[in-house]
Amino acid sequence: MKLTKEQMEVYDEQGMLFIPECLCQREVEKMNAALLPLVKEDTPGRVLENNKKTVRALHGCHTTSEIFQRLILHPSLLEPAKQILASEVYVYQFKVNFKAAFEGDLWPWHQDFVFWDKEDGMLWPRALNIVVFLDEVNEFNGPLYFIPGSHKQSYTHLQTPPQQTTSNGEKNEWMDSFVANLKYTIDKPTITKLVNNHHIVAPKGPSGSVLFFHCNLVHGSVSNISPYDRKVAIITYNSLENIPHFNSEPRPEFLVSRDYTPLQPLARDFEK
Ligand code: SIN
Ligand code: MN
Repeated sequence: MKLTKEQMEVYDEQGMLFIPECLCQREVEKMNAALLPLVKEDTPGRVLENNKKTVRALHGCHTTSEIFQRLILHPSLLEPAKQILASEVYVYQFKVNFKAAFEGDLWPWHQDFVFWDKEDGMLWPRALNIVVFLDEVNEFNGPLYFIPGSHKQSYTHLQTPPQQTTSNGEKNEWMDSFVANLKYTIDKPTITKLVNNHHIVAPKGPSGSVLFFHCNLVHGSVSNISPYDRKVAIITYNSLENIPHFNSEPRPEFLVSRDYTPLQPLARDFEK
């Protein structure tokens, strides 16, 4: 699937593009079925909410599950990713954010690129997020909030000290990028100014909807007090001309992939 000239213009101007009902229900059902056993496994890439029970996120399952391996090659995702990044691409990061009914916690306002710049040594904001809705996203279950047009610069970030979150008794500093108290967030005056100049949008739609967003687009989400799960897969494609230098010890492979094979879309959808 190629994006039209008009869709490319929307992406360039707003830093985001929403395509409701882009993937079919059968594809969504297969992904949700694959997650049922995966979520039960106590793997290093599994992050829990602060209550230490509810799963907040699963990282790197595109390498452990066939259906997610096929998702990253889906022509409706990979072709636009190559078009937007104007180069060959690879998967930099892959995660499923669960935002579970009643329990799913918030994500403070932030830009993604600052994490990849400071933690991994990524050179340029030439990476793209694609959010695939695995549940319906509605006004109640903590939809992602975006400030359209905020992707054109990097803002100064408040830096919270490392939380040294423990999981199974181990210290995992990489979790500071994935728990509700994020390491780099944007201050209230900056958000107020941005929202006054632009506005906030919260794309909503059925499962299978797809949202492309720039890695410098300011975003966040509130907690989910509704009885509806809000599960999304987020694929981050990076340009092969933008491989990070990793000045220090690289973060774990399930967070930051070092497989730089240029990806080619599957000929048809990922249904066999
Ligand atoms: C993110 O910022 O990576 C995720 C936000 C969300 O899932 O609401
Ligand atoms: Mn983010």
